[in-house]
Amino acid sequence: MCGIVGYIGPDEAAPILLDGLSKLEYRGYDSAGLAIYNDGRINIEKAVGKLANLSEKTGGGSQVKGSLGIGHTRWATHGKPNEVNAHPHSTENFSIVHNGIIENEAMLRRTYLNDVNFVSDTDTEVVVRLLEKFTSEGEAIDVAIMHLIDIIDGSYALAIIDRRNPEYMYAVKNKSPLLIGKGEGFNMIGSDAMAMIAHTDTFYEIHDQEFAIVTRNSVDIFTSYSKKVDREPYKAELDLSDISKGTYPHYMLKEIEEQPLVLRRIIGEYQNDAGELTVPEEILADVRACDKIYIIACGTSYHAGIIGKHFFENISGKPADSYIASEFVYNTPLLTERPLFIFISQSGETADSRAVLVKIKEMGHKAITLTNVKGSTLSREADHTMLLYAGPEIAVASTKAYTAQVAVLAILAVAVKNKIGIDLKYELALIANTIESLCSDRELYKRLAEEYIAPSRNCFYIGRGVDYYVCLEAALKLKEVSYVQTEGFAAGELKHGTISLIEEGTPVVAIITQYNTHLNTRGNIKEVTARGAKVIRISTKGASSRRDQIVIGDVHELLTPLVSVVPAQYLAYYTAFLRGCDIDKPRNLAKSVTVE
Ligand code: AGP
Repeated sequence: MCGIVGYIGPDEAAPILLDGLSKLEYRGYDSAGLAIYNDGRINIEKAVGKLANLSEKTGGGSQVKGSLGIGHTRWATHGKPNEVNAHPHSTENFSIVHNGIIENEAMLRRTYLNDVNFVSDTDTEVVVRLLEKFTSEGEAIDVAIMHLIDIIDGSYALAIIDRRNPEYMYAVKNKSPLLIGKGEGFNMIGSDAMAMIAHTDTFYEIHDQEFAIVTRNSVDIFTSYSKKVDREPYKAELDLSDISKGTYPHYMLKEIEEQPLVLRRIIGEYQNDAGELTVPEEILADVRACDKIYIIACGTSYHAGIIGKHFFENISGKPADSYIASEFVYNTPLLTERPLFIFISQSGETADSRAVLVKIKEMGHKAITLTNVKGSTLSREADHTMLLYAGPEIAVASTKAYTAQVAVLAILAVAVKNKIGIDLKYELALIANTIESLCSDRELYKRLAEEYIAPSRNCFYIGRGVDYYVCLEAALKLKEVSYVQTEGFAAGELKHGTISLIEEGTPVVAIITQYNTHLNTRGNIKEVTARGAKVIRISTKGASSRRDQIVIGDVHELLTPLVSVVPAQYLAYYTAFLRGCDIDKPRNLAKSVTVE
């Protein structure tokens, strides 16, 4: 995971790097560091914990002079989060920052660096030591970088500076995200566009196994065979207000409340000149030609995938299944004759999903990626991309990206075959309005979180059918931000084991939106209530009963996940808030999971 920023130009680098890193803290926040070149030396500053500690230590960067530098926020994989393991890692001449994992570090140490005393526990130190070794043996820096690309297995985005060549900065990429920001009289390197958007909206992609040599006025990209790449920069459709909290106390709350806007944006982006929702014909042809859709994703995106399966089977009459990427890659099920893969990933960089994409591409199968990030790895490597148009999602807990994924899956399912004659454009617009009215009930969610969930050690979500699928997502949301141990259960399964966990006062949240099962779920509510559970009921109007605390306006029954998840997101937010948790950056998590 980890975030990388680099700057070369006329201004003081440290404040620019700290500002860029603050936009990347979602990628990791165990420690942070800077390497700034000044007057023949590279000065290193590091601090454990959040970026604020590094900022405080360096006076907001003002105490570290120099106009060439690289910075890093770390999500520890190799070695504890302490100052020694924090990046940058340096040798006599080089400083580097790294995002990714060097898989063959043990072999590299044995083969090339047997006589070296390593100071850190990181795999990154191996890279900087190799660079020093190869250049000290006479290789020019570009040759040494190609040498690294040749011998390193694993994922890496690297930014490198060299004390002897302060007019250059180097970027190297394989399987971890990295972009070059193109400025006027300056240039930048960053893990994503958000880290640089305050300075430029123009970017160069670097592809896997490529490297770039960056000066104040030039960007030259090369393949690992030293062939110069002719690549045009592109303009990012981001603006600074997209990535600021505005008046919101947390990104998570802002992003929950952006959901109506996101749905309206999706309608706008997917409609044709006649105002109908459409999907490019080449995508539809591939879906129609397959005999089964395999949806691959992780976490929240996997939960959206399960809803997608429901859509494809019920709306298009296409067999589909959703799979956890990290399971699928090493325990691949028997595939049908004509499989089609759909990858769902907010970031488009998730290593587990990418491992499946690489595998199924080797097998010769077609893939579509649903992602929020244009130009991301999963987007580039699939045959087709469908964008989510959710805008940058900064909170680690995914909210608006989930609803965007579900909406785009519905659009695809309807476009493939609208077997049930659903007027999806009308339904999505209605849902946007319904979510808007849910957003006006903040006080209710806060009160329920306070009374039922925040004081408890654990909590259960129960539901049937799509309500059960939403329960899985609702439970993930609550546990990841509030640390209340929460599970989502199929309500009918309770009596087969889980009900033994219910004690006096255990909070249970029931989701009830399906007419064919609402009475059964209510029966299950009675069972847990009789054993002491305190139940919050979230229902849609048509399936509601007098004592339900949260009643949502009716929407099409197949699409209720888009609305029933919203109160659950609020309950997670307010429970975390009341328990004093770091809502946008829950412990041990990172937004973009670029390691397997
Ligand atoms: C959920 O809130 C998490 N952020 C996480 O489960 C996330 O959905 C998962 O890591 C997959 O990420 P992706 O969508 O970027 O691939």
